Amino acid sequence: MTQARLAATIVLAAGAGARMRSSKPKVLHSVGGRTLLDHVLAAAAPLGAPDTVVVVGHGRETVAESLEGRHGLRLVVQDRQGGTGHAVRAAMDVLDGLRSADAVAVLPGDTPLLTRATLAKLVRLHTGCAAAASVLTAVVDDPTGYGRIVRDSSSIPRPATGADTPAGAAPGGSVLAIVEQRDADPATAAIREINAGVYVFTVGALRSALSRLTTDNAQGEEYLTDVIGLLVAGGESVSAHVTPDATEIAGVNDRVQLAAAGAALRDRLAAAAMLAGTTIVDPATTWIDADVTFEPDSTVLPNTHLRGATHLAAGSVVGPDTTLTDTTVGAEACVERSTVTQSWIGPGASVGPYAHLRPGTRLGANGRIGAYVETKAAEIGAETKVPHLAYVGDAIIGERSNIGCSTVFANYDGVHKHKTVIGSDVRIGSDTVLVAPVVVGDGAYTGAGAIVKQDVAPGALAITEGRQRTIEGWVERSRPGTAAALAARRAQETSATKEALAAAEPLTMN
Ligand code: UD1
Ligand code: CA
Repeated sequence: MTQARLAATIVLAAGAGARMRSSKPKVLHSVGGRTLLDHVLAAAAPLGAPDTVVVVGHGRETVAESLEGRHGLRLVVQDRQGGTGHAVRAAMDVLDGLRSADAVAVLPGDTPLLTRATLAKLVRLHTGCAAAASVLTAVVDDPTGYGRIVRDSSSIPRPATGADTPAGAAPGGSVLAIVEQRDADPATAAIREINAGVYVFTVGALRSALSRLTTDNAQGEEYLTDVIGLLVAGGESVSAHVTPDATEIAGVNDRVQLAAAGAALRDRLAAAAMLAGTTIVDPATTWIDADVTFEPDSTVLPNTHLRGATHLAAGSVVGPDTTLTDTTVGAEACVERSTVTQSWIGPGASVGPYAHLRPGTRLGANGRIGAYVETKAAEIGAETKVPHLAYVGDAIIGERSNIGCSTVFANYDGVHKHKTVIGSDVRIGSDTVLVAPVVVGDGAYTGAGAIVKQDVAPGALAITEGRQRTIEGWVERSRPGTAAALAARRAQETSATKEALAAAEPLTMN
């Protein structure tokens, strides 16, 4: 017998997802930073099937949009919600180049926890035996909502988890049918082996069974699950892979299951990071997206969200209470209680607490962004510090410069954004307003409270004149009887007494 080849993967994503009670198609809800559908596609991609078909229907424009730019995917429209069997038929209609002995994998679009390893096992099981279909199953404590796997004798001990039951297995163990919960009698409903909704079929057998599906069931739909019973009735055999990790096959039908899948994925991603050498102090409050990467000896403190393509380099410390999105944190750098998006934090740099780094921030090696600082499109050189209370937008700053407390980069004239360029070894005094576009040369200073509208040459000092005027006695005259006025009076009396005493004392020295 020649080994069957996996010729196509079909992903079902046309269902309404009514139980989500959402205006968004179910498969576009996200866990771990990816849509449910993307998780399934990512798990299936390594199977290497030459053709991948996604069946879309409900909300198909939005689902198609979410897949834009993705190579090697074909979308097939299921014109009505005719059930999972009807959806597969729509896909098979466009897969016309398949040979009858080829294998096709069918996956639901709502099982984000499936792993590539488990899918590969099911494909290997199928292509290595003569079955017409191979089903992924699991034995669970609570089978509510899932299709039940009916085997040919209830007297046979439940298969050990992780077991395969190849076609032609000893009588008593082989799969006879899958019965949906709504169609199950009490004895069938008590079965705890459930259908993952993941199958590998032999093309010829699948086509023939699909043509015989009926809608004679509680939902009036063409069930893909009925294909199994039809194949067995036609003398074909069905094999099963019982996965030992039942969490993998959890389907998401409502938002309670969405949260449960999100938590399971969080635990899985945190465990993988920890086993690869990252310290995660509190995995339960650490949310890691599927595309986040770590180097060993990075540390994540509690209540931290790592999103998108975030990367933590060796020795970096992030958290607590921090959200990083698509951000790189360099070696030995730290970020505390801050929100950072699409930014790059150099090695040894420190950020926070309470900083907001918006897209396009680059902080050089050993640089510092401190408390209550907001940055945007700001390139900040190595060892430069913005220690507190500042806004730095549309800026380029050289190395070893210091941006004083309360400095504002006034980058917006109400219509356009403008750039500020600051050199190296610059000292920007507290409360400076840099009105862009403006350039401050290397080694220049600005005085406290300066409003800088013209370029400052290297080594120059920019100050804004506006001499201080002090009006003596103003408080006592204008605010008589206030605490301030009384304090002023006391201070004056004390200094008058001191002066009198000093005048009365004979000089002992000359
Ligand atoms: C299905 C299985 C059930 C299995 C469970 C595993 C059937 C009849 N039942 O039930 O045995 O235990 O998955 O999670 O197959 N879809 C379409 N077109 C349709 C209907 C559904 O594309 O007309 C898609 C959905 O978008 C979804 C997938 O098929 O991604 C499964 O549909 P869903 O309604 O979630 O099936 P379950 O009730 O969960
Ligand atoms: Ca489902």
